[in-house]
This record gives sequence, C-alpha cells and structure tokens, in this order.
Amino acid sequence: MLYTSHAIKLLTEEHGTIRAETKILRNLDIPQTERKQSFARLLPFLTLHSKKEEKIVYSFMKLCDQDELRIWALEGKEEHLLMDQLIRKMLAVDISGEEWSAKAKVLAELVDHHIDEEEQEIFPALARELNEDSDEQLAKNYETQNVPENIPRPFNSEKNVAQPYR
Ligand SMILES: [Fe+2]
Ligand SMILES: [Fe+2]
Repeated sequence: MLYTSHAIKLLTEEHGTIRAETKILRNLDIPQTERKQSFARLLPFLTLHSKKEEKIVYSFMKLCDQDELRIWALEGKEEHLLMDQLIRKMLAVDISGEEWSAKAKVLAELVDHHIDEEEQEIFPALARELNEDSDEQLAKNYETQNVPENIPRPFNSEKNVAQPYR
C-alpha cells in the first residue's frame, strides 16, 4: 500500500505546508520581513507536526519489526531536537540581523533534509508495516492528537519575541 496510506498522506500534506515556508526562509534574496513572517507561520506548524509525529508515528515505528524503522524513529527525534535548539537560538538573536538570517537558512536546510528523508526512506518502510486497519488507526490517532496548549506563538505583540514550546 505504498503511498496510498491515509496516515502517510496526512504527513506528506503537512510536509508540503512546511516546504512552502522553508523555500522562503532559505532564500536570502527574499526581504527579511517576508522571511520573518514565514518563520512566524512555520514555527507553530512545524513544532506541532514534530510533536505529533513523535508521539503517534515514531512511537508506532518503535514497535515495528524492521530494525531500521526503530532506528529511524530515534534518529528522527534527535533531528527534531536539533531543529528545536536552532529555533531557540533564532528566538534569542536580533531578528533583523545577519545572524538570524543565517540561522533561518540553516534551519530551512535542516528541515528540508529531514522531511526528504522521511518521505524517501522512512515512509515507504512504514507503509510496508501497515494494513488497512492499522493505517486508519494511525491516521485517526494523528488527526485527533490533542494540540498542546503551549504551542509556540512566534511573535507576541508586546515583546515581538517568540515563546518557545515546552
Ligand atoms: Fe519529522
Ligand atoms: Fe515529518
């Protein structure tokens, strides 16, 4: 059922939304104000995607027989952590400066590499572990996963500073 999985379709659609923002963030020719707005959209969406992926999809992968899926689940979580750390650094520097700009580009590259790997290697392997029932259950769990209350709100109106998740 490669690529016809409902769960994988949900994840891939969200990756599309993420890619639309990383395309802006990695392009230094785009004005900083526009890249800043892109970051503001990306931050809550990416954080939520990663948390849900860890909680629902990576947890499922850890239960699978394929060794590589269990290892990818662990690696994926580490990559999410790297993104998280970089985002925190971006929130700590002047958003109009070159340092922020460089960090934004590196974040976009990191995210793109991560989601490419998920789509090209991990999801096909995951699809081999799914049948119709488990796929529907996985998709349902993913869709109904509660949204954490403290999901980041990138630019709070008073300080113009993001509130990191957690
Ligand atoms: Fe991920
Ligand atoms: Fe993902």
